[in-house]
Amino acid sequence: MTTHDSALMEKLIALTKRRGFVYQGSEIYGGLAGTWDLGPYGVALNNNIKSLWWRMFVEDREDVYGVDAAILMNPKAWEASGHVSGFADPMVECAKCKRRFRADHVEGPKCPECGGKLGEAGQFNMMFKTSIGASEDSSSVTYLRPETAGGMFVNFKNIVDSFHPKLPFGTAQIGKAFRNEIAPRDFLFRVREFEQMEIEYFVKPSAWKDLFEYWRGQMHDWITKVGIDSGKVHELEVPDGERAHYSLRTVDFEFDWPFGRKELYGLAYRTDYDLRNHEEFSAVDLKFTDEETGDRFWPHVIEPTFGLGRTLLAVLLSSYTEDELGGEKRTYLKLPKHLAPVKAAVFPLLKNKPQLVEKAREVYAMLKKEIPQIEWDDNGNIGKRYRRQDEIGTPYCITIDFDTLENNTVTVRDRDSGEQERVAIGELISKLKA
Ligand code: GLY
Repeated sequence: MTTHDSALMEKLIALTKRRGFVYQGSEIYGGLAGTWDLGPYGVALNNNIKSLWWRMFVEDREDVYGVDAAILMNPKAWEASGHVSGFADPMVECAKCKRRFRADHVEGPKCPECGGKLGEAGQFNMMFKTSIGASEDSSSVTYLRPETAGGMFVNFKNIVDSFHPKLPFGTAQIGKAFRNEIAPRDFLFRVREFEQMEIEYFVKPSAWKDLFEYWRGQMHDWITKVGIDSGKVHELEVPDGERAHYSLRTVDFEFDWPFGRKELYGLAYRTDYDLRNHEEFSAVDLKFTDEETGDRFWPHVIEPTFGLGRTLLAVLLSSYTEDELGGEKRTYLKLPKHLAPVKAAVFPLLKNKPQLVEKAREVYAMLKKEIPQIEWDDNGNIGKRYRRQDEIGTPYCITIDFDTLENNTVTVRDRDSGEQERVAIGELISKLKA
């Protein structure tokens, strides 16, 4: 059973704001619902997650091709994909205050805000419309992409023509997507502008079941690698009638969020739905020729999809820790070392001793050349510096003290245990990279 823990959410949101991970979008104007901005540590953590994903699913493989398609696409692509006609949420409007709600988020016939009567449910398309060029007539309408997938399907033929891959092969993309959510909520969970990391894996129609299982395993491997608490992840076989319009089978990977058990990632079997429809709407042949048999067919697609904001939130929640160290309460992020925004912080023991500062600057510069994510900190006393670094998940704090001037060793303090050891300066890089 999931227990709702709004206190944890409040603490995490406060920490991410205070320490420069996540800010409310357009905050000085009162915000813009469903948007969030990343501060310096948020960008760093987000980039580390993206690099890890790209490494695992593109660079470490021979069968997945990276793409980065335009966000604005020919609107016909969204007709072909079914998003113009089918990408809608059921919505109800209050007859009195005119507020709109997702029909599946309200119980009963009354408005949760003012108690007024709710109207019949209607369909509300979630794509953001915009217009291209100076005129705003219907011929200029296009959309902000609601999923990155579309940019990969329209490049299917380009990848085949440039690289001549054999089946199965995939394309992968990381990028922004936009959905005009009726009710954005729960911090980074349900937002209107977000980043996705998606793979479209093209397979022979007869191979889809095995490869679906294969990707299921890969998604669990990723969850472990990125430091999400796998004990809080549960698979849900999405029943008929509740899947996206293009999917014949979907497994959702749900997470026990503090606000309930809800979707983290999805794995969908999109059949040949996309290529078949893009061929019909573009009149360009998108069939694949099997080299061995000469057969021509639309490959089927397995799609593992990962929301980046949800990953960020799940990683933060999985690493948020409160404990006691040396009789004092502390809060820290037990982030996997390879994801931490700062890999190590370097301090001079005292900031008013020029010899210590000079030596510490030397060590800092030497480390930073090899590992860019190193931070200098000489504010406040050592205890305060440790607390600050703990809160952003820095695995190691390195202090240059008077012994350093004698024997070229420094103290290295471990985030999780709080223990310190003396390490020779010459061994620091291998220690940090271990
Ligand atoms: N491409 C799947 C999704 O955006 O949910």
